[in-house]
Amino acid sequence: MPRLCIIPGDGIGREVIPAAAAVLQAVLPELQTETAEAGWDCFLQHGTSLPDATLQAVKRCGAGLFGAVSSPSHKVDSYRSAILELRQKLGLYANIRPVRSWPCISPRGDFDKDVDMVIVRENSEGIYSGIERSDGETAVAERIITRSASRRIAKRSVELARLLGRERLTIVHKANVLPLSDGLFRDSVRAVLEDSHYPLSVDELLVDVAALKLHSEPHKFDMIVTTNLFGDILSDAAAYWGGGLGMAPSLNWGENIAVAEPVHGSAPDIAGKGLSNPLAAILSGALLARLVWGEDKAAARIESAVFDTLSSNLELSGGTTAITMAVLERL
Ligand code: NAI
Ligand code: MG
Repeated sequence: MPRLCIIPGDGIGREVIPAAAAVLQAVLPELQTETAEAGWDCFLQHGTSLPDATLQAVKRCGAGLFGAVSSPSHKVDSYRSAILELRQKLGLYANIRPVRSWPCISPRGDFDKDVDMVIVRENSEGIYSGIERSDGETAVAERIITRSASRRIAKRSVELARLLGRERLTIVHKANVLPLSDGLFRDSVRAVLEDSHYPLSVDELLVDVAALKLHSEPHKFDMIVTTNLFGDILSDAAAYWGGGLGMAPSLNWGENIAVAEPVHGSAPDIAGKGLSNPLAAILSGALLARLVWGEDKAAARIESAVFDTLSSNLELSGGTTAITMAVLERL
C-alpha cells in the first residue's frame, strides 16, 4: 500500500500540493498520507526549516510530495532551504525532469513534432558541492565530480529508460574545457551504459551546443543526462516547451526514497489568491505513481486528465480550484 508524506511548505505550495494530493487520492484510493511541515514559516515558528519529525515522516513513507519553500534574499544565520536539506539528507541523487508538449499551453517552434524528453540531472555534487572560499579578492567554488556519483546517475538513467521505453540518451558535458572532471563524468557514464546490455543509443553534446539545440530542435531529444548545474539551467530552459513553470514537474529520487516537487517556487506575488496553476504539482504526483510506486495506470489517468483539461482550452487564470476540479472530473 503506497504511503505519502505531504509537505506543502510556503506560499503557493499550500495551494498546489493539496490539489495534487486530492488527484493522487482519487486515482489511488488506498493511498495512506500524512502531512508534515517545512520552510520559512516553519523556521520562524520552530527555529528550523526542516524539523526532524518531517525528515522521519518522509523516511517512514518512502515518498514525499513537496510544494515549495520561500528563502529570504539576505543571509539568515542557521537557515537552510528545506528542499536542499531533504535532497542531501535523504540521498536524493537523481533529479528527473520531463518536458513535453501539451495542448493549447505549450509554445510551438518551427518544428512540426511534439517535444517529449526527460532530463536526468545529477543532484548531489558538481558545483553545488557547497564548498566555497574567498579571501575577498579571489573566490573559489569547488566543482566535484566523482566516478561513483557519475556511475550512479548513469545506472538510474538506464533504469528510467527501461521504465519509460526510451531509446536514446544524450550525455551533456563540457569535457573540452574540463577534461578531468567532465571527462570523468562522460567516461563513467559511458562505461555503465556499455555494461548495461540495454539497447540505448548514446550520443554526447557539449553543453553550449546542447543549449542551442534545446532551443532550435527540442523535438530531437529523448533523454539527457548531465551534471548538476548544467541540468538545473538546461531543464529550466527546456521547461519553456512544456508551457513554463506552472507545467514543470520533477522527481528527486534516491534509493528506495523519492520526493516529487513542482519545479516552481513559492510565488509570493500570487500566493494566497487562489491563482496558482496546480498542474506542475499534479504531474509531479504522476511521476511518483509511475516511477516510485509502479502504478502506471494511475499515472496515465492523471496525465490524460491533464491533457483533456488543457485540450478543453480551460481558462487557466480561472485559478487553482477550477483547474483542479476540471482534472478531477476528467480522471
Ligand atoms: P517562482 O517559481 O516562485 O515564481 C516565478 C514566477 O512564476 C512568478 O511570477 C510566479 O507567480 C510564477 N509562477 C510560479 N509558479 C506558478 C504557478 N504554479 N502558477 C502560476 N504562476 C506561477 O520563483 P521566484 O519568484 O524566483 O522565487 C520565489 C520564492 O520561491 C523565493 O523565496 C525562492 O527562494 C523560492 N523558490 C523555491 C523553490 C523550491 O522550494 N524548490 C524553487 C524556486 C524558488
Ligand atoms: Mg532551478
